[in-house]
Amino acid sequence: MDLKLRGKRAIVTGGSRGIGRSCALALAREGARVCVTARSRDLLDEVVREINAAGGEGHAAAADLVSPDECRRVVQGTADAFGGIDILVNCAGAARGGDILELPAEQIDEGMALKAHGYLRMSQLVIPYMKENRWGRIVHIAGSAGTSPNRGNIPLSLANIAVLNCTRALSDAVSGDGILVNAICPGMTNTQRARDLQQAEADRQGRDVEELLREAGEKLPGGRIAEPEEIAAVAAFLASEPCSYVFGTAVYMDGGERRGTP
Ligand SMILES: NC(=O)c1ccc[n+]([C@@H]2O[C@H](COP(=O)([O-])OP(=O)(O)OC[C@H]3O[C@@H](n4cnc5c(N)ncnc54)[C@H](OP(=O)(O)O)[C@@H]3O)[C@@H](O)[C@H]2O)c1
Repeated sequence: MDLKLRGKRAIVTGGSRGIGRSCALALAREGARVCVTARSRDLLDEVVREINAAGGEGHAAAADLVSPDECRRVVQGTADAFGGIDILVNCAGAARGGDILELPAEQIDEGMALKAHGYLRMSQLVIPYMKENRWGRIVHIAGSAGTSPNRGNIPLSLANIAVLNCTRALSDAVSGDGILVNAICPGMTNTQRARDLQQAEADRQGRDVEELLREAGEKLPGGRIAEPEEIAAVAAFLASEPCSYVFGTAVYMDGGERRGTP
């Protein structure tokens, strides 16, 4: 299928590694022009080289997306470099786990500041550019923890459910302008972040983190955890022209873990 992404102008937040990097490369392989943004300039430069090699056109904007001013700078800089913005993939996330009885409440604020507030802020900033062309796609990488709270994942869970509610509300606000807003809820996905989140448990049990990830995957109907490229393939579709009648929903990519609704 031709996703008709050639020449489309995209921003991918959290594009320096993990799922965001894979999303940036998936869009680039379809010929999109992609600005990747995160804090680490070195990693971003590496991804820009990969984007260019994959047939896209890369641009890097180092920024801490907790800061509203930095978000504005990224969006303005991308619009100046590319002459507009058609696609936003929001993927920057860094919420930590921890038992709710011991968790410093600040960890909840951190998760909300980057992911819930950051995703919404970036969406609000790109929408005027999309409205100019009466075409746009916004893809939020949320997470299945949003609908599966447990005592160890509340900062992630709260940020993700906030993102899902914003996805629905934003979609209602802009669907009449040709802008589609949707989310993906990955389950555990093979990135450094998944390793970092599992490390405390691995240390507690005196076990290897890779073993824990493998075991977590084996418990799923899918038999394994996801690879970031699998999440990126669905993100590229949700960002594409042929995706023309999907509004304000979430695609669960959790290895079949989720039961029923929500
Ligand atoms: N991996 C999983 O199992 C999983 C499951 C469900 C949902 N998700 C979600 O998927 C998204 C990506 O996760 P991932 O596993 O790919 O994580 P990752 O490999 O740790 O990547 C996170 C990205 O966010 C960037 N980032 C972190 N803090 C930032 C800040 N303050 N400002 C700007 N960028 C920032 C990071 O770059 P810098 O550190 O250089 O800034 C990096 O590019 C997250 O929203 C996560 O919640 C992941």
